[in-house]
Amino acid sequence: MDNLKTYIEENKERFLDELFELIRIPSISSKPEHKDDMYRCAELWKKMLIDGGADKAVVMETEGNPVVFGEKILDPSLPTVLVYAHYDVQPAEPLELWTTPPFEPEIRDGKIFARGADDDKGQGFMHTKAFEYLVKTNQLECNVKFLIEGEEEVGSPSLPKFCEDNKEMLKSDVILVSDTGMIAPDVPTITTGLRGLCYWEVEVTGPNRDLHSGLFGGAVANPINVLAKMITQMVDENGHITVPGFYDDVIEVSDEERALMAKAPYSEEEYKKALDVEELAGEKGFSTNERTGIRPSFDVCGIWGGYQGDGAKTVLPSKAYAKISSRLVPDQNHEKIAELFCKHFESIAPKSVKVKVEHLHGGQAYGCPIDLTAYKAAEKALETVYGKRPVPVRSGGSIPIISDFEKILGVKSVLMGFGLESNAIHSPNENYPLEQFFNGINSIPYFYKNYAEMMKK
Ligand code: BES
Ligand code: MN
Ligand code: MN
Repeated sequence: MDNLKTYIEENKERFLDELFELIRIPSISSKPEHKDDMYRCAELWKKMLIDGGADKAVVMETEGNPVVFGEKILDPSLPTVLVYAHYDVQPAEPLELWTTPPFEPEIRDGKIFARGADDDKGQGFMHTKAFEYLVKTNQLECNVKFLIEGEEEVGSPSLPKFCEDNKEMLKSDVILVSDTGMIAPDVPTITTGLRGLCYWEVEVTGPNRDLHSGLFGGAVANPINVLAKMITQMVDENGHITVPGFYDDVIEVSDEERALMAKAPYSEEEYKKALDVEELAGEKGFSTNERTGIRPSFDVCGIWGGYQGDGAKTVLPSKAYAKISSRLVPDQNHEKIAELFCKHFESIAPKSVKVKVEHLHGGQAYGCPIDLTAYKAAEKALETVYGKRPVPVRSGGSIPIISDFEKILGVKSVLMGFGLESNAIHSPNENYPLEQFFNGINSIPYFYKNYAEMMKK
């Protein structure tokens, strides 16, 4: 690409200033008090798309947070790439663990520290700058559309309907997404799989009120004890999930593909060291990458009940709660799994308690074949920038809307992400290395160039 490196070099301060403006808006989708911030953030995205060279950009209402749509149509006969990203972020708590405030971006040790620095403001923003470069230097050879949503972190509840209602507007040949990761800074990676998920909240009720744990303890079931026991029954000693029928639709990956997966660079020692754990745990017979990439998992995300204040209070609580999630793989159906779990969880409850299970949200897993034209365009783009062939990786994370895009719009997504495991997304001190940010901006233009060429043939 003509003078791409120079363009980035000459504009890098401005790029960072603009990204920081985006990061400073606390667009936390799970908190209703941030509704205004969602609109402010959407408006800023719209402005950035226009400034970057889009013919049009609009903020559109949905049943939830607004969506930003923008486009530049060069010629309807050219291939069209739809860029998807999300402007919403996860809550920043626990705040006291941040070195600098989460919505005041700061560069330290060559990394941008802030909530959203990687997920997905930093990564999404790279696309506006790659686009700007292509437009300003007259090198764009594809039509480009942008779809930036504000509810990814809460399961994209409004986007499927928005897609149904706007199929023509969203028409494209491929969807390009930077919201995933790389194995290491020097190991270019393309994500070929995302896990699906199911999320529930359970409530276990024992006696009709909190009781004195001396007067009643030992005679009345304690809902926290019961809940803890029920949870431990969900996974057996081999790391198998015990819900009947849970594995029925899991596609077993061939030995050939497993052998290929085992070739991806991975050090168990470094992995353990980075997490400060002595030993890993998971399903027997599978490696770490297999456990997150091709096998389902079951986790309690939060658990509470009883006395949480300072000091001691002798109480036998009336209620116990947990938030529980399960990551799914092809071809598990998230609605079917949601049902199976509800039934099973209720069935193992002792008569001494009442159990309520609420299904909060879910989504399907996704797979991208490596012979897809757009995959090859991404592969070649990363090879140009990194000097080596990218590794295809099935990620353990989820972006539920990606499989909906396929179902509703009939379009495949290519997941060309630049995050690192050490970026601490969703955690305190989320960060995004400048190297990843600028390599991303440097790689994306080649994707368009390769894709346009490959689609001509
Ligand atoms: N960008 C992540 C997903 C991701 C990260 C995939 C790294 C692969 C590698 C996304 O924003 C996310 O956090 N998704 C949620 C989905 C949920 C809230 C429905 C997840 O995976 O927990
Ligand atoms: Mn994300
Ligand atoms: Mn996220």
